[in-house]
Amino acid sequence: MPNSTYDLLIKNANIWTSTPEDPYKIKNFKGDVGVHQGKIAAIEPSINADADEILDLKGLELCPGFIDTQVHFREPGLEHKEDLHTGTLGAISGGITGVFEMPNTSPSTVTEKDFFHKVSRVKDRAHCDVAFYIGACAENALDLEELERLPGCSGVKMFMGSSTGTLLVDEQTVLETVVKSGRRRFAVHCEDETRLNERKALLDNPNVSVHDHPKWRDELTALNATQRIIELCEKYNRSVHILHVTTAQEMEFLKTKKNICSVECTPQHLTLFAPDCYDKLGTLAQMNPPIRTRPHQEGLWAGVHNGTVDIIGSDHAPHTLAEKRDNQYPKTPSGMTGVQTILPLMLDHVSNGKLSFEHLMRLMIINPVQLFKVKSRGYITVGAEATFTAIDLKKTRTIRNDWIKSRSGWTPFDGIETTGWPTHAIVRGQLAMSDQEPVGPAQGQMLEFEV
Ligand code: DOR
Repeated sequence: MPNSTYDLLIKNANIWTSTPEDPYKIKNFKGDVGVHQGKIAAIEPSINADADEILDLKGLELCPGFIDTQVHFREPGLEHKEDLHTGTLGAISGGITGVFEMPNTSPSTVTEKDFFHKVSRVKDRAHCDVAFYIGACAENALDLEELERLPGCSGVKMFMGSSTGTLLVDEQTVLETVVKSGRRRFAVHCEDETRLNERKALLDNPNVSVHDHPKWRDELTALNATQRIIELCEKYNRSVHILHVTTAQEMEFLKTKKNICSVECTPQHLTLFAPDCYDKLGTLAQMNPPIRTRPHQEGLWAGVHNGTVDIIGSDHAPHTLAEKRDNQYPKTPSGMTGVQTILPLMLDHVSNGKLSFEHLMRLMIINPVQLFKVKSRGYITVGAEATFTAIDLKKTRTIRNDWIKSRSGWTPFDGIETTGWPTHAIVRGQLAMSDQEPVGPAQGQMLEFEV
């Protein structure tokens, strides 16, 4: 390629990256990046060459694209809440360039046919790159080894406790089959179904309210399931990703199991706490596993600080305001939007000194890529995909419902001012977001994995 012309030339950026050879050694340097045909063609202190488009990022941080490894985009079947188009519009507006989408759609994503049906809906509709999980169930447990290797599959997702949708694996023999069939890291929602059912009588109280949600789905409900799956994974030497950990006890336990597991926390569990969140937000704060008290939140932060937590995922799980507000708890659905606010919220924690910017990059770029083996993402190196998120660490803005692209149209963080905002998203060399608004056509593609 003649080095005089780039499709895109990024100037004056403050670049943050590591390399695939040494992924945890993040370097920070000022420079220009030349992009040709969707790939990074040059990284130099200064590039003076022709380009179709020049983007001056002076004063901004340029990172590899941020990834959200847990979103529910509801398509097919629940498109009145969200779909791949609106979900990815939210993602890109919040600086997320790749998402792993969950299988509790309608129908659940449990067969090759279901999976490819979802894949067929990505082209010209998704504004960021996408991967899909395959759901584990009794009927497909023996096929998971093949299903987890489908192109674009981020791995297997298993629900041990009932949540939104019908996916559930609770029976010991099925659990054991799921753990044994397949080799990739698999993601688990840990709540103990037996205990959930035993405690359901709590909800019969005529004065029941959303404040009872964390009492019904209590600490032991989470801990029992987490211990149960870790025990099985140790028995069969299978790597497991424990989703949305919510209790200090689980975090202490998982700290001793890092040889077998990776751990996710959500921004909402790190930011909101009970009873305050239920007082202020009512059922908008209802999710599974629940938001708990301050001591649990402190336990989660301890897990972030001591390295137990590997990944921050949003668990973006939209339901309409009508579904949340026109029903009475416990008839209200669990879940809240998050893909658009995950990065601003976590950058606000960076701004408040809760974690460093490099640490956030590990949690939302490098670990997702390393742990799930995403191909050609996560590094600003010559030859890599030109997918980036640019950030203004000083920008302050108030999160508002009218900015939320989700079809559900709301966020529990409406009215909250945060500092540190993604300013640009670039997907394979194309500007996809500027000033927190989507730009250009939907050009998302399926992510690829080393399997
Ligand atoms: O609160 C939740 N909502 N937790 C889940 O695990 C599922 C999610 C949803 O899909 O609504």
